[in-house]
Amino acid sequence: MTHSKNLIYKTLQLNIILFLCISINIFASSDIELINRAKKADMMPIPQSKLELLEIIDDKENPITNAKVELGKKLFFEPRLSKSGLISCNSCHHLGMGGVDGISVATGDKWSANPLHLNSPTVYNAVFNFEQFWDGRSPHLADQAQGPIQAPFEMAASQELVLQRITSIPQYVNEFKKAYTADIKITFKLIADTIAIFEKTLITPSRFDKFLHGDTNALNKDEKEGLSVFLDLGCARCHKDIALGGSMQPFDTGKRYKYRNLGAFAGNNNHLVKTPTLRNIEQTAPYFHNGAIWDLKEAVKEMGKIQLVLGISNEDAKKVVTFLKSLTGEKPNIIYPQLPVSSKTTPRPLAD
Ligand code: HEC
Ligand code: HEC
Repeated sequence: MTHSKNLIYKTLQLNIILFLCISINIFASSDIELINRAKKADMMPIPQSKLELLEIIDDKENPITNAKVELGKKLFFEPRLSKSGLISCNSCHHLGMGGVDGISVATGDKWSANPLHLNSPTVYNAVFNFEQFWDGRSPHLADQAQGPIQAPFEMAASQELVLQRITSIPQYVNEFKKAYTADIKITFKLIADTIAIFEKTLITPSRFDKFLHGDTNALNKDEKEGLSVFLDLGCARCHKDIALGGSMQPFDTGKRYKYRNLGAFAGNNNHLVKTPTLRNIEQTAPYFHNGAIWDLKEAVKEMGKIQLVLGISNEDAKKVVTFLKSLTGEKPNIIYPQLPVSSKTTPRPLAD
């Protein structure tokens, strides 16, 4: 009697274990399925291996080294690259604020607003963009960095002024020699190239990357559901690759966009717009090229209306936002650099 009771008990126990195993397996396999769906839609993780990452971001002509990164970091925070001596790259691409300024329209020299009413995009993960700027007019970070220093409504400095400022500061001259070669000729281009090397280190791996790399617990249930809705809606048609954006795509600036009349930006010659990265999107409001939308849920619904010509329900928009928040990544630990003192010959800040 006890023997058969024992047997029933054991069988029951085994069945429960079997049931648990199967259900865990089902959960795991639906997670794997979700990972595969995301990958199939070309959403790509930031590589975990340093070598693989360097393959994507490094340039053999001017490879990343610690000395260049440290010098580039100083230059990124250097207000003397601006005519007024007040504005650095960090003024508009605040590294403590998701790489943006948190204002609608970028504001630079003498409080001038961007003439097209453009919003400052983030510098975090910008290295993964296929093009830079909202109209994609720049092919890479080194080329891009030359623009804002000279733009009259940004840092407003001439190439000559920038060169005079930097070469008149002995510590900078020494650091360029150390980072490159003893006989290096400091040029405006080299200054921009060095800033770009620092920017290449502004990469922020998130829990979403862990998930794509196979850690099925990296996202919670709601975030997974949000990702699934994001894929169902077709958002990954444009928000894909490592940047989850970064390529030129059609954007209806002329007809459907609610705030189309704010500013004169109409995309490139083919009316294409550089798709912004969705990484750290929670930290980079306001949204869209003219910084007109402050609320992420509203941005998602507006995207549905413009890009997919469909109304996204509040509920679905909320789910997508829950997923988007999982894209907030771990920032590199940046120690605010001490900048070298000016010399007697350093051109003074110009207020006029
Ligand atoms: C006055 C604010 C301001 C300053 C200062 C500024 N930027 Fe920008 N940055 C912007 C705006 C606005 C854009 C978009 C402009 C456009 O698309 O025409 C932009 C675009 C960029 C982009 C392209 C990102 C993308 O997703 O397309 C990078 C990279 C960048 N800036 C880096 C820098 C660096 C490096 C400096 C310093 C040398 C700098 N910026 C100084 C406002 C600023
Ligand atoms: C056809 C390509 C395309 C599709 C599909 C698409 N987007 Fe976009 N997305 C863009 C472009 C281009 C922009 C920039 C538009 C602008 O500001 O002019 C953008 C902007 C955004 C922004 C604002 C980003 C910022 O930093 O300002 C968010 C958020 C966003 N998209 C989310 C989504 C979501 C969620 C979906 C799916 C419902 C989606 N997008 C579908 C191309 C696309």
